[in-house]
Amino acid sequence: MAVIIDGKRAALTLREELAAEITGAVAVGHRPPGLAVILVGDDAASQIYVRNKEKACQATGITSFAHRLPADVGQRELLALIKECNSRVEVDGILLQLPLPPQLDAQACLLTIDPTRDVDGFHPENVGRLSIGLPGFLPCTPAGVMELLKRHELSPAGKKAVVVGRSNIVGKPLAMLLSRPAPYANATVTLCHSRTTDLAAECRTADFLFLALGKPGFVTGDMIKEGAVVIDVGINRTPQGLKGDADFASVSARASAITPVPGGVGPMTIAMLLKNTITAWKKRILDK
Ligand SMILES: NC(=O)c1ccc[n+]([C@@H]2O[C@H](COP(=O)([O-])OP(=O)(O)OC[C@H]3O[C@@H](n4cnc5c(N)ncnc54)[C@H](OP(=O)(O)O)[C@@H]3O)[C@@H](O)[C@H]2O)c1
Repeated sequence: MAVIIDGKRAALTLREELAAEITGAVAVGHRPPGLAVILVGDDAASQIYVRNKEKACQATGITSFAHRLPADVGQRELLALIKECNSRVEVDGILLQLPLPPQLDAQACLLTIDPTRDVDGFHPENVGRLSIGLPGFLPCTPAGVMELLKRHELSPAGKKAVVVGRSNIVGKPLAMLLSRPAPYANATVTLCHSRTTDLAAECRTADFLFLALGKPGFVTGDMIKEGAVVIDVGINRTPQGLKGDADFASVSARASAITPVPGGVGPMTIAMLLKNTITAWKKRILDK
């Protein structure tokens, strides 16, 4: 039976470390970090995500500046708000909750965010930095996965890693992070997607299997190499509650370690957003 990788506990520990950093800096006279959170419209899931992020900020000592805009807001108005956030000294990070309503151009909005405040790591400058190994903001979910590996001393170095899913926010950056010449990376990576000819065969080659396809219970125990580490990024709403992309019962019977859903990668994503915000803040207060 697989060891359960407890993302909730790892995220809590990280958040305590971050809170201590803020308390220490504020005690010697620095302002607290600030995160501008922009939510457009009334999508129920986005509202929950934003509320959770704001609560996490508050608990850690980060000031959040909430901007809630109506669903019919125009592109010009949204860009003006982003530019205003870019210029405010107390704003270290800007979070634009996606998806946006269809009349808005998400790419244009993301491009307008100051790359030094791009704590989601979606700006092409930060994506480019990741791809050539320069420091920059890493997207929170893949960064959270890497942090989980490190905190559980699960090193994929020299091993075969398979990532299922090639989205810009999870699969692609995760594949890049895993193949970096860095501690808890250096894996030999295969990136799979919906056009992969034999997904089961690819998965069975993996010492480390990363699932980010968004299909509840899709990957079953017979698709897993005995003893593999399985990191399930999937979060799928089902009538039975939140489910991952792995069929937990059959996969955990063959894997050596697995992240549960919920309580695995999800909590790490928010913790990494806080970490990125604190990184931006430290750079700003130290540069002053
Ligand atoms: N834990 C967290 O904090 C967190 C954060 C973000 C996302 N998520 C979850 O992670 C999952 C993926 O999110 P995403 O935004 O990356 O999704 P996405 O943009 O929909 O991408 C899904 C990827 O999976 C691939 N795929 C779909 N069906 C497949 C199949 N049958 N076989 C092989 N590949 C298949 C797609 O291939 P094509 O490119 O060929 O279409 C695509 O590359 C979702 O469940 C999402 O809720 C969790």
